[in-house]
Amino acid sequence: MASRSGFSSRIGFIAAAAGSAVGLGNIWRFPYETGSNGGGAFLFIYLICTLIIGFPLIVGEIAVGRRAQANPYGSYNLLGGKRWALVGLFGVLCGIMILSFYNVVAGWAFGHFMSTAFGDLLNKPSFDGHFGEYASTIGSNLLVSLAFMGLTAFIVMRGVQKGIEAASKLLMPFLFVILLGLIVYGLTLDGAMKGVEYYLVPDFSKINLGTVFSAMGQAFFSLSLGMGALITYGSYFSKKDNIVTSAAIVTVVDVSVAFLAGLLILPLVFSQGLEPGAGPGLVFEALPGVFQSMGPMVGRVIGGLFFLLLCVAALTSTVSLLEVPVAYLVDERKWKRGPVVIGLAALIFLVGLPTMYSFGGGDFFTNFLQYYNAGANGPELVDKSFYDIIDDIFSNIGLPLGGFLLSIFIATKWKTSNLSDEITSGFENYKGSIAEKFINLMITVICPLVLFLIVLSTILLKFFGVALI
Ligand code: PHE
Repeated sequence: MASRSGFSSRIGFIAAAAGSAVGLGNIWRFPYETGSNGGGAFLFIYLICTLIIGFPLIVGEIAVGRRAQANPYGSYNLLGGKRWALVGLFGVLCGIMILSFYNVVAGWAFGHFMSTAFGDLLNKPSFDGHFGEYASTIGSNLLVSLAFMGLTAFIVMRGVQKGIEAASKLLMPFLFVILLGLIVYGLTLDGAMKGVEYYLVPDFSKINLGTVFSAMGQAFFSLSLGMGALITYGSYFSKKDNIVTSAAIVTVVDVSVAFLAGLLILPLVFSQGLEPGAGPGLVFEALPGVFQSMGPMVGRVIGGLFFLLLCVAALTSTVSLLEVPVAYLVDERKWKRGPVVIGLAALIFLVGLPTMYSFGGGDFFTNFLQYYNAGANGPELVDKSFYDIIDDIFSNIGLPLGGFLLSIFIATKWKTSNLSDEITSGFENYKGSIAEKFINLMITVICPLVLFLIVLSTILLKFFGVALI
């Protein structure tokens, strides 16, 4: 496909892939998952999942995409045939569903930017219950999430190089700097050290199947792995460049930002006496109080800047999420990019509406269903919102399932010899190296085994209340 436009440089690819990886998953999702799953023990398992399962599969996804030069559906179809193409299609579906709720949360970030920088959020006497109030006000939520989807569509419309790459390269480094600055400030607050201890000293008695399941889901979500986003980006990746080192850089950047976000948020949570297990509202409850404590002007500037960067991080991720179904329809159906982008953005916005009502905005979607969680004494039935269900099915189960299928695909159909050939382009000494042995062992043995066990036991536990382990 000679017409496929690629990234202008290796650094462009890394910026775009890291831009996809770094997002709300790191700064919003990681801290609340850590807080809901016991702190340090969760961090520990998450790191293991990322290194032994996540990293090799990133290499695999990029290699598949670069070899096939196509979207996930087209890539599986070309390299594996019609039946395997279904895996690619499932990835496209995961992308659509994840973006549907991701955009709602991105809207919250955008709303907080507006009301911190230009409104009177920081004048509130107390932030107790702030998130519940905010998230259940549907009118303003509609507006901000519509705005965010519009912005995403605008960038995706401009195409890979001009849109995605430019936005990522420019803005990612800023995020790092402001995170570091805020961490230093946060650590000086009273009670912050209790949060540091909670975060960094693992209490292994807190580990159960639920912890491992959430950590694996978090690792996949945060790395943008398991649904073909990296197949799609890999298809734009130059044959001259080294997949393994690029994947390593993306992994390290992603983990670092998540780690730093935890080091920022959890101390703030403890210093303000908040509940670490508060769930999706955690970051939005913990931050405004801190910006307020900086004084009216400084708080407005620093707080505004922080939420702005959070929006940027979210935007480089929503763009990669939307690019997957767009690339599918443009490549396979030969539809025009412009109308496809607009149509999909509108559709996904609508699919996200029940999620918007899942946080107190409507009782029906807030208490949508009941199913099981892994409790301390076995499975326990709990209320789940519509958002919880979509997140469990498409992020926590769908992405690891996609990773499992990718590893089976490489091991049994495409074969590791082809994987090695593809990686060798751009990495001359790959064959015979330790990197090759590690990646092959992980992809052919460890990933299939571990992911199969986790996905299966999770489905049995969540939806049938049967505890396998
Ligand atoms: N990795 C992104 C984040 O952490 C979310 C994402 C998931 C993006 C899957 C693309 C694909 O915010």
